[in-house]
Amino acid sequence: MDFQKELDKKIEMTDNTLKKYLSPRYPERLYEAMSYSVLAGGKRLRPVLMLSACEAVGGNMEDALPFACALEMIHTYSLIHDDLPAMDNDDFRRGKPTCHKVFGEGMAVLAGDGLLTYAFEIMLDTVCAKRDIKYANAAKYIAHNSGTCGMLVGQVVDVESEGVTIDDKTLMYIHDNKTGGLIKAALVAGAIIGGATEDEIGDFEKIGYNIGIAFQIKDDILDVTSTFDVLGKPVFSDEKNNKSTYVTLHGIDNAQEDYKTLSEGAVKMIEKFGGRSEFLKKYADMLVNRIN
Ligand code: IPE
Ligand code: IPE
Ligand code: MG
Ligand code: MG
Ligand code: MG
Repeated sequence: MDFQKELDKKIEMTDNTLKKYLSPRYPERLYEAMSYSVLAGGKRLRPVLMLSACEAVGGNMEDALPFACALEMIHTYSLIHDDLPAMDNDDFRRGKPTCHKVFGEGMAVLAGDGLLTYAFEIMLDTVCAKRDIKYANAAKYIAHNSGTCGMLVGQVVDVESEGVTIDDKTLMYIHDNKTGGLIKAALVAGAIIGGATEDEIGDFEKIGYNIGIAFQIKDDILDVTSTFDVLGKPVFSDEKNNKSTYVTLHGIDNAQEDYKTLSEGAVKMIEKFGGRSEFLKKYADMLVNRIN
């Protein structure tokens, strides 16, 4: 398997489909703001994870494509709102001025709302067209892990924890939810659509927990070690907002070590799925050394 070719293919499929979903329509300004942020770039981590989890259990990744795009819209909405002055107040994202800098705060709030709602319309369209309960289960899992039991509540506790020193349990809650939520959603929804058994779904939840926490630890590290040019977003954003991060709580050396251990744990669990999971395994492995 040519890993890079396969990765490019998954990203291209996602981007082409996102472009179709976001074609201009009235009111143009809203669609401009939504597509500005979605199509600005980004690693497409969550779509790639979803498509490869679907393959890893023997499914056809085309079946998961609408859900992969929907999840990328939910992720992008979370970024647009995360960057608002009322939250992290950051001016750049994906190498470009943030949505509120270009379109104004009101339109940025609405573009985020638009992406979130549109994501569920896209998923429910598939549920109705396919009349197969697995798609409904995948949408339900994504809803659960995006909202009041996932990303949203992670963001809530993150905001509430600004300026206070939190304990490790609270930090783990934040990381597992604000970042782990959508990563678990990607893997488990992909597995459900691919026809996974209950046991396999349980395995993907554990893999998602490890990758989610590891991914956010690395994000905390990059915030203090990388540069704007490499990240496409401001560095030292956490310090500016008086956030407790994995780095401030445990130090940079422990952070490096712990995210490696978590990532290696994820790779080991993926190995169980054998040959069909080769791409996912390599991708999880690659995340360990990611630079942005
Ligand atoms: C950024 O996510 C927010 C976090 C959860 C750390 P990504 O690092 O996946 O951002 P993009 O999608 O590549 O822009
Ligand atoms: C936010 O974490 C995760 C989201 C749910 C958007 P951060 O605030 O650390 O993400 P970045 O560093 O701005 O991408
Ligand atoms: Mg934040
Ligand atoms: Mg932020
Ligand atoms: Mg960050």
